[in-house]
Amino acid sequence: MVMVPIERCPTGIPGFDKITQGGFVRNSDNILTGGPGFGKTTFLLQFLWNGATKFNENGLYCSFEPDIVETLKDAMSYGWDFTKLNEQDRVKFLKFSPRTSIEDLKNELTRLISRYSIQRVCLDPVSVLALNINDEGKIREMVFELSSLMKRLNVTSILADESLESQNLTGSDVTNLNKTDIMKFLADSVTNLYESGLSGVGDRALRISKMRRTNHARTLIGMRITSKGIEIFPPEEKMQAMAMPSQMPQQQSQKPQQPASKPVQQASMPQTQTTQLRAISPSVPAQQQTQTSPQQLQR
Ligand SMILES: Nc1ncnc2c1ncn2[C@@H]1O[C@H](COP(=O)(O)OP(=O)(O)OP(=O)(O)O)[C@@H](O)[C@H]1O
Ligand SMILES: [Mg+2]
Repeated sequence: MVMVPIERCPTGIPGFDKITQGGFVRNSDNILTGGPGFGKTTFLLQFLWNGATKFNENGLYCSFEPDIVETLKDAMSYGWDFTKLNEQDRVKFLKFSPRTSIEDLKNELTRLISRYSIQRVCLDPVSVLALNINDEGKIREMVFELSSLMKRLNVTSILADESLESQNLTGSDVTNLNKTDIMKFLADSVTNLYESGLSGVGDRALRISKMRRTNHARTLIGMRITSKGIEIFPPEEKMQAMAMPSQMPQQQSQKPQQPASKPVQQASMPQTQTTQLRAISPSVPAQQQTQTSPQQLQR
């Protein structure tokens, strides 16, 4: 039997690529779930920052949050100054209203992905899209359309899902599915974040409940958030078991993992930061942020 190597999209998040045999599967659609403050946005920003600075892959961050400038400030606090990357068209930021239609979203994604040769896309939080839809069939259709589009455009996507269900460690409460849980069945992978150190290592935890076409750690893995972002602590003995050739072929990213072109800088939050952020997000008055059409933050 000929084993076709699975191409990878490494996250560069310390520990995560180890527990997934090299990162997300390239061109897959992935769900990241967790409650408020569990680290979803941090994970997405770190994925995009590392993509551009370590793996030379352009990214797109689509926000449904009320204020994307706040998100950029969050990134700065980890030392990820996206200003320059945005100016160089390596990571673009797009603000959507929760009322944006799926058609508008698809059109704008298609335009930007091809215009900027984007390989990584993050939607944060995608659950907002389902807010105004009550028909489960329509939600399924929307998720399916989005996911098919991302695959056609050859991008690796992560969709953040606001969910408290990840608190249910057994995942057994299938009768109480929330509106966006359908996404988890359709997605190629589901990673759940937890706010407490349930694994005994770190003060937070992460669990991958599914990842198609690859082996991966399945237990709760320790995690923490520091001023450098997210860190995962893979248990070494489990990694050795996973690396056994009889279980799965070793699959590596076809792209060599380059060292960061620049070391990640510790960021303070200087007064000038607002000016820098305005450089990529010039004037997005609050009233415009609720409009139905997407708004790209341009320099
Ligand atoms: N420098 C830091 N050191 C340690 N923890 C930090 C640091 N900066 C942020 N955090 C933690 O990260 C959390 C924010 O994470 P993040 O915004 O990524 O979560 P989220 O899941 O996107 O939340 P929400 O659902 O509210 O959008 C903060 O609540 C804080 O606990
Ligand atoms: Mg967030």
